[in-house]
Amino acid sequence: MNNPYHCPTRREFLKASGVALTTITLGGLFPGRVLAADTEKRVGVRFFDTVEIGSIQDLVLGEPLSFSYGGKAPFNSCFLIKTGRRSGGGIGPDQDVVAFSNLCTHMGMNLTGQYNADHAVVGPCPMHLTTFDLTRHGMVVSGHGTESLPQVVLEAQGDLIVATGIIGLIHGLSDAKEMI
Ligand code: FES
Repeated sequence: MNNPYHCPTRREFLKASGVALTTITLGGLFPGRVLAADTEKRVGVRFFDTVEIGSIQDLVLGEPLSFSYGGKAPFNSCFLIKTGRRSGGGIGPDQDVVAFSNLCTHMGMNLTGQYNADHAVVGPCPMHLTTFDLTRHGMVVSGHGTESLPQVVLEAQGDLIVATGIIGLIHGLSDAKEMI
């Protein structure tokens, strides 16, 4: 866990959080889901159902793959990208496969088509020019936005890419209850 690019898996996260002290079961809201409430809130990670997204070997360098995750439309618009450089939370042999929400954290503009492969950023946003660094957990590098782009937590199961959660809150949603 000393690797600054590492993004915790669900298992590592719960283990580190002392889950026995803070665990609650939100049966109706998250069927079958056990959450470490305090720590999830503090770190901003929200774990959802595991969803298969695609195959690592099928990804084309610099070509985003759209998928839906973490809520209802239009808030569930996400993309997967192989950046070609080691990226925070990245999976795969080169730790360069990452995924993010498509919705700008400033005012919710959809960023589809704004990926810049030369710099591994998404943006500038067509509305107010915010640009997000996809190698650094979606950090804002310029523009009006102040919040990082929500990052989808990925795990590799062999060659299979699965989404397990989201770091951050999607623009337009007030809390995690709306992200299901
Ligand atoms: S909506 Fe993207 S910068 Fe304002």
